[in-house]
Amino acid sequence: MKNDIVRCECVDMAIDGSGIAKCGDLVVFVKEMIKGEIADVKITKEKKSYSYGIIDKLIETSPERVESDCPIAYKCGGCDFRHISYDHQLKLKKEILANILKPFEVLDIVPDEVHYYYRNKVQIPYRDAKMGFYRKYSNDIVEFDDCLIESKTANRIIEDLKELLKDYPKAGQIRHILIKQNHDQSEMMLGFIAYEKIDLTDIVNILIKKYPPICSVILNINNKETNVILGEEEILLYGKPYIMDEYHGIRVKISLKSFYQVNYRQMLKLHELIRELSERDEESRVLDLYCGIGTISLFMAKSAKQVTGVEIVKEAVANAKDNAMINRIENVDFVLADASKGMDSYLKDKDIVIVDPPRKGLSKELIDSLIKNGINRIIYVSCNPQTLARDLKLFENDYHISEIHPVDMFPYTIHCECVVRLEKK
Ligand SMILES: C[S@@+](CC[C@H](N)C(=O)[O-])C[C@H]1O[C@@H](n2cnc3c(N)ncnc32)[C@H](O)[C@@H]1O
Repeated sequence: MKNDIVRCECVDMAIDGSGIAKCGDLVVFVKEMIKGEIADVKITKEKKSYSYGIIDKLIETSPERVESDCPIAYKCGGCDFRHISYDHQLKLKKEILANILKPFEVLDIVPDEVHYYYRNKVQIPYRDAKMGFYRKYSNDIVEFDDCLIESKTANRIIEDLKELLKDYPKAGQIRHILIKQNHDQSEMMLGFIAYEKIDLTDIVNILIKKYPPICSVILNINNKETNVILGEEEILLYGKPYIMDEYHGIRVKISLKSFYQVNYRQMLKLHELIRELSERDEESRVLDLYCGIGTISLFMAKSAKQVTGVEIVKEAVANAKDNAMINRIENVDFVLADASKGMDSYLKDKDIVIVDPPRKGLSKELIDSLIKNGINRIIYVSCNPQTLARDLKLFENDYHISEIHPVDMFPYTIHCECVVRLEKK
């Protein structure tokens, strides 16, 4: 019954990072409980076959439990595991992945040795003079001083912006702030997403003076009431419409609307893994579907005959084309297209196909098309193990599926990047 207190043992971890606790036949999903712990749990919500609860009193504490170092942990929707030592997070995440991806074998997660201040992109809502992260499963904004997974400079810029916007009469027009930076913080981009065109000259002047790496300031107009953060129209307020970064000796342009992996250290490891698993050679013809600004394509092109990248965001395709030119990589080309349909003509004659879709995974049409075209080797890069599991089942009859190689792209959260190789039977 709601508000009852029951003594439970946490026997497993759920995919949202909460503990799955048992008291006889009763199954309770308990926030912040760690596998192996025993606790008195207060029931907060009852469903037909399970309940939700919170820890009332810990009776046996996991040796891996740590004091959270973030004052707003679990208030904001960012981190899921601030109460668990980093090494143990990896162990539990691996178990969660293994449960989702059964029967495929999941290898140890490639750790991020630093795992603090790792994000190179911050995207925060601004409403009613409040700037912060959304509380989990809610639209309430939770403010913060020092987010431990965003970059330190981004934290400082956000602090300054909060102050600056207090006196700005048009602040109510601003919906989101977006900050991007390259790996050594020599270049930063500041994006204001607003309902309408507003004059931000004074604020921008203060910030570019205080933070010299800011080399790009963009006003993006979005007056639609949807979940999509960025609108179509962009106005360049200062500098250039992109920032540059460099990885594996390749220089790349990144625009406001273009995807770039948020954890640079782990991105490098991800690329090495893709290279290793693809076993490509000088004769390989590669198709890189969902290619973004071409990071994987350009890296693969170093030793492949030809690489074609396909991407749906036009700004990202423009970046990718420029990136090929800047680096004088001639054996790549990039196409603006929807990779979920009509890919047959691109798949013809390809030896290796890399797919790196958004969270919703691959379309049935693309999977059928990959199988029908008899692609020998597919490297599937996934940020969502649930859709990966769904998709792998559709490939299973026709492909040998390798172990799953997870890379901890998002420490302290339940999210994890996975790479897997499919080899035609
Ligand atoms: C997870 S990101 C991967 C990007 C790139 N592979 C990288 O490593 O930087 C997914 C990319 O797919 C693009 N995308 C989303 N839906 C798409 C579609 N239907 N067709 C082509 N690209 C799509 C997104 O714009 C994004 O750039």
